[in-house]
Amino acid sequence: MKRNERWRRITLRQLEIFEVVARHVSITRAAEVLHLTQPSVSIQLKRLADTVGQPLFEASGRGIVLTDTGKELAGTCRELQAVWAYFESRIEDQSELRRGRVTISVVTTAKYVLPKALGLFCRKYPGIEVDLDVQNREGVLARMRDRLDDLHIMSSPPVDARILAEPFFDNPLVVIAPPDHKRGARPATLESLAGQRFLLREPGSGTRLAIDEHLGKTGVTLASRMVIGSNEAIKQAVAGGMGLAIVSRSVLSGSDFDDVQILPVRGFPIEKPWHIVRWRDHRLSPAAQAFLDFLTDYAATLRSSATQAKKLRKA
Ligand code: PGA
Repeated sequence: MKRNERWRRITLRQLEIFEVVARHVSITRAAEVLHLTQPSVSIQLKRLADTVGQPLFEASGRGIVLTDTGKELAGTCRELQAVWAYFESRIEDQSELRRGRVTISVVTTAKYVLPKALGLFCRKYPGIEVDLDVQNREGVLARMRDRLDDLHIMSSPPVDARILAEPFFDNPLVVIAPPDHKRGARPATLESLAGQRFLLREPGSGTRLAIDEHLGKTGVTLASRMVIGSNEAIKQAVAGGMGLAIVSRSVLSGSDFDDVQILPVRGFPIEKPWHIVRWRDHRLSPAAQAFLDFLTDYAATLRSSATQAKKLRKA
């Protein structure tokens, strides 16, 4: 009989019965332990020995002893039990969040917010690994189509019944200009700024999509455009006086305000909240579910501290 054929024919029940008989070196005792009749234990042992192709026990005095093949099989049964016990401990670890892995892809603007949440999550669950991939919207959508990740973060999620998208956090898009750019007493209109050079993200970017939609809706045409495929490079270029830009407010941190200013412009900010997006039929692992719950709570905390800060500013 070929090796795999034996494996296919043997049943776990036969191995379980054999292991008990081998441990007690007694069919009578094994039958008692297993609550079976002696003949049914003997039948299972005979079937097992037939499949193995060699006797597993032999008579010795009034009892039985294991043959060499029987001893080998008894050792194999112990190993199988140990492997199974290891498997069980691993799935227990997973469900109790002692270990696991989450993969997440986020758009470039969200990378300014996500790593902090990730740090807090990893401190809470040190055994869980998180793989974070940062791409523009098109790249995140491609990863999503290939089902590479558990969760995705982007604004303007695709409208598709197979996809679940929950709002995650505010993502206002603002107009930025060099610090010496003149501002009037009242907010400018986009039309009044449209004659200046605008630095735009590349096609495929979610920020760019939102800008194009806004321009389409308002009928404003930008006279001079330059494409720069990175939020950081856009900030630097604006700081260097190359033009104006529309960027996610999240890409600006405290020190950036030495180099750029947010211009008050009518119709701005454009609100494009990020969403946590996933396939409806994707079963989240315990680790991925824990990350999703954590992110949801984290966003709620951020929102309430933002509201509080607003109230304090008004007071
Ligand atoms: P982007 O996407 O990084 O591709 O500009 C931003 C977004 O989806 O909000």
